[in-house]
Amino acid sequence: MKKLLAVLLVAMLALSALCVASAEAKTYKVGVSIYQYTDNFMTLYRNEIENYFKTLETDDVKYEITMADAKNDMAEQTNQVQNFITQGMDVIILNLVQTSSADAVIEQIVDAGIPLVLINREPLGDDGDESYAGILDNPQVCYVGADARQSGTFQGEMVAELENHGDINGDGKISYIMIEGDPENIDAQYRTEFSVKALTDAGYEVECLDDQVGNWDQTKGQELCATDLTTYGDQIEVVFCNNDAMALGAATAIQTAGRTVGEDIYLLGVDALAEAIDLIKAGEMTGTVLNDHIGQSHAAVDVAVKLLNGEEIENYYWVDYVKVDKAYAEANY
Ligand code: GAL
Repeated sequence: MKKLLAVLLVAMLALSALCVASAEAKTYKVGVSIYQYTDNFMTLYRNEIENYFKTLETDDVKYEITMADAKNDMAEQTNQVQNFITQGMDVIILNLVQTSSADAVIEQIVDAGIPLVLINREPLGDDGDESYAGILDNPQVCYVGADARQSGTFQGEMVAELENHGDINGDGKISYIMIEGDPENIDAQYRTEFSVKALTDAGYEVECLDDQVGNWDQTKGQELCATDLTTYGDQIEVVFCNNDAMALGAATAIQTAGRTVGEDIYLLGVDALAEAIDLIKAGEMTGTVLNDHIGQSHAAVDVAVKLLNGEEIENYYWVDYVKVDKAYAEANY
């Protein structure tokens, strides 16, 4: 009997200790809205946001993540933000659908007193170059991203570094097609501009055969590349894609057209998706640029946690891109 009582006592003590512990655990509510779940790169990014938040949990601190798909629809995202505000989120992480609508959305969140971490799509001012300094100057708001100029430059450099500098037919100019991401996104604009600029800055002559919008999408990338291969045939020496998803589509179109990457055409992407790395190792893609979703998601979560703890933050956090050609891919993946 005595033994039983002792066991009961220990059990009760353990239970009350547990209650005290759980009563003390603080749960922060985190609202995350992603511009579109079907985006390959943003899928890696959002999964890592969730994984990384979990690794930061302790007995005392928990994070309750509400993740929402804005389905590439700004009205839908505005609704999600309003819901986040009503639900009393402690912090919001936002991957904007339309950076041109940034000011209105940011204002709502700031007015509700909720700290905000913008990711992946940097909002720009009216002149298309200056950041929304007024809004991002807010001590509760910041942007985490990578400088897309760097990724474009790396693409161009990989072509310049080739033995023939991308001029396969030796006519003195590099003839290319450009497959662009969503033009709302500064990443698409900068990658388009800086990939070519790297070549012209290095003194090479370029010729743009076609420049089309593929909206970051693999199927669209394949369609656009296939059409251009039919229209321009052997004239195309380089295919620049603003991201890997579209480059994967282009790779299929190139194969179907009976062309051979590395011999009669070159193909460049950005992101370093696993599928693109495989193609680079197999010689079916010339190169890509690592868009570090791990570094960016961790930076975004770390700054969100700082905001939750009332710590001071910077308004901008930048994560570097890395050039991934065949040698790099073979050595590092
Ligand atoms: C870019 C990325 C693209 C796409 C886009 C979405 O940084 O390279 O693949 O995910 O973000 O905004």
